Amino acid sequence: MEKKEKYEQMLPQLKALTEGVNNNTGALANAAALIHETMGFFWTGFYLVKDNILHLGPFQGPVACYTIPYGKGVCGTSWKEGKTLVVKDVEEFPGHIACSSLSRSEIVVPIFKASKIIGVLDIDSKEIATFDNTDKDYLEKAMKILSDNLI
Ligand code: SME
Repeated sequence: MEKKEKYEQMLPQLKALTEGVNNNTGALANAAALIHETMGFFWTGFYLVKDNILHLGPFQGPVACYTIPYGKGVCGTSWKEGKTLVVKDVEEFPGHIACSSLSRSEIVVPIFKASKIIGVLDIDSKEIATFDNTDKDYLEKAMKILSDNLI
C-alpha cells in the first residue's frame, strides 16, 4: 500500500480512537501507537510543553531523551518557529539531538491548541529522506484531529 493510502485510512481511525476519551495521556499514547504501527516508523512520539521546556510524552520505539529546551534540536526549533520541520538528513541539521545513533531523518509537527503550541509530534526514520510533503500534510491533519480531542 502506498504511503498516501495508509494515511487516508489512518486519519478516520485516529478520529474514532481519540474522540471523547477525556484522557490526554491515553489519547496521545494511542495516537503514537496508531501512527507508528500503520506507517512502520522507527520512533514515533510526543514531546509536551511544560514550564517552557519540552518533556518526553507517550511514544513508541527505543528509549529517548527526557527534555529538549526551546529552540534546541529539531523539536525545539519546530516549537520556536511554529512550523513543521522535515529533515532529510539529521547530520545536516545543526544542533540535532541524537537520542538514537540509528536515526537518519526526521519530521517534527507542532501541536496547536487555542493558537498555542502544547507539544510536538516527533518521528524518526533509520533511512535518509523518509519524509516529504505528503507526510507533512497528513501528519498536520492528524495533529489537528488529535488536538481537537485533547482536553
Ligand atoms: N532528534 C530530536 C530529539 C528527539 S529524538 O529524536 C526522539 C531533536 O533533534 O529534537
